[in-house]
Amino acid sequence: MAEIDELRTALLARIEASESPRDVLRASEFKQLYAKIPQLDPAERGAYGKQINELKVALETAIDARQSAIEDQLVLPLDITAPWDINGSEPALLPTENGSVHPLSKELERVVDIFTRMGFDAHESRQIDNDWNMFGALNFPEGHPARDGYDTFRTEEGFIPPAHTSTMQNRVLRAGKAKLEAGGQIASISYGRVFRNEDVDATHEHTFYQCEGVFVSDSATLGQMLGTLRAFFEEYYGQKLLIKTQPGYFPFVEPGLEFAIEKPATLGGKPGDWLEMLGCGMIHPNVLRAADIDPEKYRGFAWGGGVERLVMLKYGIEDLRHFESGKLAFLRKFA
Ligand code: DAH
Repeated sequence: MAEIDELRTALLARIEASESPRDVLRASEFKQLYAKIPQLDPAERGAYGKQINELKVALETAIDARQSAIEDQLVLPLDITAPWDINGSEPALLPTENGSVHPLSKELERVVDIFTRMGFDAHESRQIDNDWNMFGALNFPEGHPARDGYDTFRTEEGFIPPAHTSTMQNRVLRAGKAKLEAGGQIASISYGRVFRNEDVDATHEHTFYQCEGVFVSDSATLGQMLGTLRAFFEEYYGQKLLIKTQPGYFPFVEPGLEFAIEKPATLGGKPGDWLEMLGCGMIHPNVLRAADIDPEKYRGFAWGGGVERLVMLKYGIEDLRHFESGKLAFLRKFA
């Protein structure tokens, strides 16, 4: 018995010092303990066997503890809150330049800033929506061919990644109704990503950004709309601009217009280079009704257009695909 105690002390010490502690169970001294069993007096065998088993359990516990201590040592002290390169020692991993805000984000901020200074509130548009907001609330009758013009994607469940930011109109109108009835106005822009099932080329993307404006009061006019849009474009491009409109068809406005600016000489334009920038018009009575707003008492105007187009003109960007390409050479020009 004293022999077993001695062995226990020796083996535990060996485990503590070993890099592969499990090997200790294969030590010949330990194996010999079992070899002795047949030589013992049968009356002693039970107690002896119990002692060996206890020893084995004690050794296994010590082995497990030692094993996890070894594994802990292998893990380098790691500060997960540190800058990303701090935990490595490779100089090649150190960043050599800072990242920058994407040009579209930066320009969208400018757009939002101009409209909020004019008194509009601003919301990001939703990226998943439904048939009602995409079409129904916007006076597209069921089965109307104008629905096909929007090349909409649909999920298997029937949801729609919006093909225009006009999907926000019904929400904006409903949210503003109380304000209107308290004698105020609705003045709101919605901006964000929109999606169309289109072939991609230099002027078409399946994913792009739009900005939508809605204004409603008891006396809104087309003149106010043109003034608002002119003020926006002149502020954005930092110069006086010529504007013109021509009739355009959108089921949610009546009359509907396409709004164009003359490409400024400072941006490489010649007189007569008209660029269509957005669609707009007086909000159709059915669109107001769809939001429980009485078209006999209130009238409004709305507009919506692409953000990339604005930015491309401003910086002379020739290909729409650059924006979503993630190409550093392009992004660095705007850093
Ligand atoms: N949603 C239209 C489009 O993407 C653009 C548009 C036209 C928005 C007229 C409007 C509007 O708010 O009044 O083609």
